[in-house]
Amino acid sequence: MFQADFVNANPLAEALPRTRAADPCAVVLFGATGDLAHRKLVPALFQLARGGSLPAEYAIVGFARRDWTDAEFRAQYHPALGKHGGPDFEEVWARFAPRLVFSQGAFDDPASYAALKETLDTLDRTHGTAGNRVFYLAVAPEYFATIIRGLGEAGLIYPRLQESPWSRVVIEKPFGRDLASARELNRDVSRTLDESQLYRIDHYLGKETVQNILALRFGNGIFEPIWNRLHVKAVQLTVAEEVGMAGGRGGYYDTAGALRDMVQNHMMQLLALVAMEPPTNLSADAVRDEKVKVLEALPRWRAEDVYRSVVRAQYSAGSMQGKEVPGYHEEKGVAPNSTTETYVAIRLELNNWRWAGVPFFLRTGKRLPKRATEIAIQFHKPPTALFEAEDGGLGGANELVLRIQPDEGASLRFEAKVPGSRRRLQSVRMDFRYGASFAIPTPEAYERLLLDVMLGDPTLFTRTDELENAWRFMTQILDAWHSPQAPPPDHYPAGTLGPESADKLIAADSTQWRRL
Ligand code: BG6
Repeated sequence: MFQADFVNANPLAEALPRTRAADPCAVVLFGATGDLAHRKLVPALFQLARGGSLPAEYAIVGFARRDWTDAEFRAQYHPALGKHGGPDFEEVWARFAPRLVFSQGAFDDPASYAALKETLDTLDRTHGTAGNRVFYLAVAPEYFATIIRGLGEAGLIYPRLQESPWSRVVIEKPFGRDLASARELNRDVSRTLDESQLYRIDHYLGKETVQNILALRFGNGIFEPIWNRLHVKAVQLTVAEEVGMAGGRGGYYDTAGALRDMVQNHMMQLLALVAMEPPTNLSADAVRDEKVKVLEALPRWRAEDVYRSVVRAQYSAGSMQGKEVPGYHEEKGVAPNSTTETYVAIRLELNNWRWAGVPFFLRTGKRLPKRATEIAIQFHKPPTALFEAEDGGLGGANELVLRIQPDEGASLRFEAKVPGSRRRLQSVRMDFRYGASFAIPTPEAYERLLLDVMLGDPTLFTRTDELENAWRFMTQILDAWHSPQAPPPDHYPAGTLGPESADKLIAADSTQWRRL
């Protein structure tokens, strides 16, 4: 094996390069006392403030039921942010803290929205936020429509075509539970909001390595000509997680399952980016127009096709890094007879000219032995075998692996001659590592996405037609699983790579899952 960097990157490149600054604005966090706000949103805003990426004038308004003062709200975040501190923490905090404001209210109470409006009007005067608003809905999905209606009725959402000041609404997943409920929610929110005011967040799209899929494919000349059915034998997409139901997630997860939680959103986005045609430019709609065509090319399946092409499974008790862990049914919040899947494997083909006949294998699961998100493009072997392959060699089947996380980077496997008098080949790997090539830290996905909302750039957010096409495909699977003919979920011990049925699924194409 030898290793080499593909390119030598410019270490001075900015982590979040921008040609223009975001407008002054207020960011209202619904669910400000919740887990997402604590773990991701406020830390991301703090990092943006630290890096000087936020507009000169801004305010962050926490909206929740608790009876907090501004000082109590700030006190919640001081220790949490301080943990990841840095030597300049207190200095940045001293500038950041006065921008944090609390507005008490209930999601279904018109008076609360009137009070929020007053707070925002005051902030326009005291903090220079210029009437621009981001409303971030980090709340359970049953509140999405209620909050948007509340905002609309209080006059907090500006008319659809008004450019300035602006109001934008960010919605966390899950956006619907199936095609019908996603459509209903779309209809509901479209009474108040225009598509251009709605930002459906999928945090995978904010990951630097996910954005790099487009850079690798369309910023280089050598990959695109071979990125099709003539040269690609199969594509494997893996999102493996070690975590189980930590942090009290069992209750939510048991109503969702791996298909809704990971495949419908994150994995469909990865698939779209890997399989799409080159866009004519990088504008939001040009990119999303191409992505949606991939989702339209997903197969139309009957129940029997689903049983043949999709494996679902639950983890049973097992061991992770030498420690015994409980099975899914023993987790807190999980119904004892639950059939919710913690693992899904899918074999699908895209019905278009570029990909017809190429199998795409998708798998995701909780309590797998290792955390790894990667996309492997597996190429055909050379037409004749002139050389002897070393044991375990690929026989000339080159493989390009995009490592989304951890150990972000990409590697290309190819064959090289083993030194000596024989004509033996062995697989070697050319490797690019973000950490080694770029001397700057990768920004958190939420930093990039929050900044994009403030800048009004929807490229990395899911459009209605993308969402509905992804749900159409998932709904076929969900419907088949709900049928009385559906086989029950399989099982895999925690700490293993999934059930045997997933190995059989891929073995039918004379191949196997990549080792992680
Ligand atoms: C979330 C899912 O969207 O993504 C979680 O709800 C999952 O179940 C998480 O663990 C994975 O995100 P990441 O960034 O850690 O890969």
